[in-house]
Amino acid sequence: MEMQHVLSADQFSRSDLNHILSRSAEMEEILKKGGSKICDGRILGALFYEPSTRTRLSFETAMMRLGGNVVSETDVNFSSITKGEVIEDTIRMVGGYTDIIAIRTKTKGQANIAAQYSPVPVMNGGDGAGEHPTQSLLDLYTIAKHHRIGDEPLKVAFVGDLKYGRTVHSLAKVLRHFDGVELSFVAPEVIQMPTEYTQAGDNVSYDLSSEILQNSDVIYDTRMQQERFEDMEKFREVRDSFIFTPEIVGQMKSSAILMHPLPRVNEIKQSVDAMPQAKYFEQAQNGVPVRMALIAELLKA
Ligand code: NCD
Repeated sequence: MEMQHVLSADQFSRSDLNHILSRSAEMEEILKKGGSKICDGRILGALFYEPSTRTRLSFETAMMRLGGNVVSETDVNFSSITKGEVIEDTIRMVGGYTDIIAIRTKTKGQANIAAQYSPVPVMNGGDGAGEHPTQSLLDLYTIAKHHRIGDEPLKVAFVGDLKYGRTVHSLAKVLRHFDGVELSFVAPEVIQMPTEYTQAGDNVSYDLSSEILQNSDVIYDTRMQQERFEDMEKFREVRDSFIFTPEIVGQMKSSAILMHPLPRVNEIKQSVDAMPQAKYFEQAQNGVPVRMALIAELLKA
């Protein structure tokens, strides 16, 4: 598989996705044996200019489990960006210090700019309300562990903030490669899926109907992205639109899975966590082997 950077879910072919799934499964086995040394002496630069726990720490853990090292910049206030440095300059420098970069930015499209100036591979760890391609791969990996994706009909419902939530943008693109996948977008109108990510044949609704609840194989819930709303009044109007309680989740099929990229705020009650459908912590755990696979591919290790 030829891959220079990971910038958008658009870049993956079906065979790339299959390859990443199988390399991730291999990495999961390697992890069980304590990791490997294939990235010995290599350094990951993690530049995170928006809050992050899972994405940054799983990128860093992935590099360390491959035997590599990590340098991080996690607070934009302590970064030269605050002195007025442009991303192009930062990336040139960090690309000179490290072998691979993971970057999260506040603005859509900045990972692409970073890649243009970087002498080393760049992985987009989330660009504003744009995309989150590495998350979509761990999401795909999680779905593939529970369902025979591409071989039989699969109903996937995205619920929550589909406008500003970048994970759903990338995952919708990835899932379109698989036959039999039917996508439903459930969100209030003001935060519905932008049309650049929808296609004829998708189901769009403003309420979580019992039909979607009872028939979906995957429900992918998301957080209302408060920080991206321009109008706080609109945020307050929609923030409690969908709350997953044990009663609601109990209506899902027993084979169905409830996913969420995390962090959750109040949209999934903690009392749901022990239910068999709840897979969001397992999903977050999958970030490590999937990011190990991506780092190894990009570094040709
Ligand atoms: C998501 C993100 O940052 O886009 N989190 C993550 O990376 N797992 C989702 C969110 O912040 O709501």
